[in-house]
Amino acid sequence: MRYPRELIEEIRMQNDIVDIVSQYVPLKQKGGSYFGLCPFHHEKTPSFSVNSEKQFYYCFGCGAAGNVYSFFMEMEHCDFPEAVQKLAERANIPIPEREMTGQALAMEKLKERLFQMHAAAGRFYYDTLQSPQGEAARAYLEKRQIHANLCRKFGLGYAPDSYHALSDHLQAMGFSVGEMEKGGLVLPNKDGNGYHDRFRGRLMFPIFDVQGRAVGFGGRILGKGEPKYLNSPETVIFSKSRNLYGLNFAKAARKKELILVEGYMDMISVYQAGFRNVVASLGTAFNREHAAVLKKYAQDVILLYDSDEAGTNAALRAIPVLTANGIRVRVTQVPDGKDPDEFIKQNGAVEFSKLLLNAVHYISFQIACIKRKYNLDLVEHRVRFATEAAEALSKMENAIERDVYTAEVSRMTGIEEEAIKKEIQKLQNRQDAAFEKEAEQRRLQNMKSYGLAKGTEQGLLEAQRNVLYLSANHVHIYEVLKEILDLDDFTLSVYREAFSAMGTLWQETGSVFPAELLNFFEEPEQQKQITEIFTVQLPGEEDVDLQKIVNEAVQWMKRARIDRMTAKASSVEEIQKLVDAKKKLDALHITI
Ligand code: CTP
Ligand code: MN
Repeated sequence: MRYPRELIEEIRMQNDIVDIVSQYVPLKQKGGSYFGLCPFHHEKTPSFSVNSEKQFYYCFGCGAAGNVYSFFMEMEHCDFPEAVQKLAERANIPIPEREMTGQALAMEKLKERLFQMHAAAGRFYYDTLQSPQGEAARAYLEKRQIHANLCRKFGLGYAPDSYHALSDHLQAMGFSVGEMEKGGLVLPNKDGNGYHDRFRGRLMFPIFDVQGRAVGFGGRILGKGEPKYLNSPETVIFSKSRNLYGLNFAKAARKKELILVEGYMDMISVYQAGFRNVVASLGTAFNREHAAVLKKYAQDVILLYDSDEAGTNAALRAIPVLTANGIRVRVTQVPDGKDPDEFIKQNGAVEFSKLLLNAVHYISFQIACIKRKYNLDLVEHRVRFATEAAEALSKMENAIERDVYTAEVSRMTGIEEEAIKKEIQKLQNRQDAAFEKEAEQRRLQNMKSYGLAKGTEQGLLEAQRNVLYLSANHVHIYEVLKEILDLDDFTLSVYREAFSAMGTLWQETGSVFPAELLNFFEEPEQQKQITEIFTVQLPGEEDVDLQKIVNEAVQWMKRARIDRMTAKASSVEEIQKLVDAKKKLDALHITI
């Protein structure tokens, strides 16, 4: 059962998109729209627009688009029914219990199987580690000083050096090879026949989701060799760009502050040293999805990446991602290019706690990194340093913090605070102006797209969007086109569905409200395609000849369809018919 459409629309109306987006993204009003930094791609100047009147969002930068549901789904990583439930709750609208559709049910079942399979695989690796086969791996763990109770807690294991040990075991437990492949535990053989285990001869780290279910594995080679770590691929239960290793344990610490490290071993070592509020981002670049997950559990993050150049750069890149999500960030580093795991082994937990206490505000870290490039004994370097620091300061939202650190740069360089502030102001003005210009350009581009060359794929899509746009805005155009167009004249199923949905909306509500039309679509990609219809504006709609636009677009769509059919035609008669049909089109004149 799906939710009734009226209910979905009611919930949508009660959740103003500007309100919802504002909870995640600071917005500034500019004319009829609101603008902010796009949460779906990394940017410095805001090109993410929220249209309060039409109740949708559109990013001029990355093209992300949709209504309050799609936004919520993306931010909360949930599906459509969940978004409906949560937004209904938020608006105090009671909703009926709901059964799953066949497809959703099948997906739930598959996930459940994969969870069971990962639990079984984890158990298998764990048992192998304890068996004679696991001797070398046990010795390795001992060398790395990981205690037996921690091995148990983290479910560490060993994958035998065999191509079929795991798959045979899982098969005996009733799991199919198909399931194993969907879970990323086996790979097809190169010759196309059969499968083999992905992980062989490696120390295994189960990767858990927040609920503590194993959803993937990382396998470390025992000696030297490449790759050092091998990880599960993306599957329906595992996404590397969302998972934070150890979060299931760290959340139990119930601290508002989390320590963020780079590696499996770092996470385990820090945890073992008694700091339980630690998670690892596992080598992948820390991204906004990680930040969104973190935000649910912590307001503050101590960034503790490796102190080599790679780690420092990774930390510098993680900072804006975290702060963009409103997370307060402090940074600390292990001295001498070591990683936290090595530091703890050499210096112990007490010294480590001092490292944490010495964590500095992220801007201090950024400024220190800039300072390393210059020799402040030289006037010229002091100027360049202050200029670059001003750039970093100009991105700080909090004016009080900004002033405090501006004063610090002033002290470090002997340059007047006022001068640095002026520079910061200048940079901020420039950023604002650049943003204005970019957004304006994208808006213009959008408007210009009408009139694309005939015969191109883009042009055909544009013709369909024009038809849909006009059908949504003028009931008389819809009524005429309904008679003339076949659904097959549209090339995308999402456009066909949109055209049908418009019929329903015109009939039942007497209007086609863009955000309401979006309710018909549950996939973010579809929502994006539908929103695009409404972001394209025809050049000064009052002035142009709508009749001409409609005629052109319809001709175009119908001819393209005939061409498609001709390409598939299998007999001369068929082709002749299509040629005739095309000729008849010359006589088609639509009056609106
Ligand atoms: N990583 C990976 N694949 C690799 C190398 C690294 O996925 N080939 C990820 C792992 O999650 C690893 C993290 O990046 O934990 C950090 O890498 P690195 O600092 O090289 O490893 P360490 O955590 O220090 O591992 P170890 O102490 O076992 O050498
Ligand atoms: Mn290490």
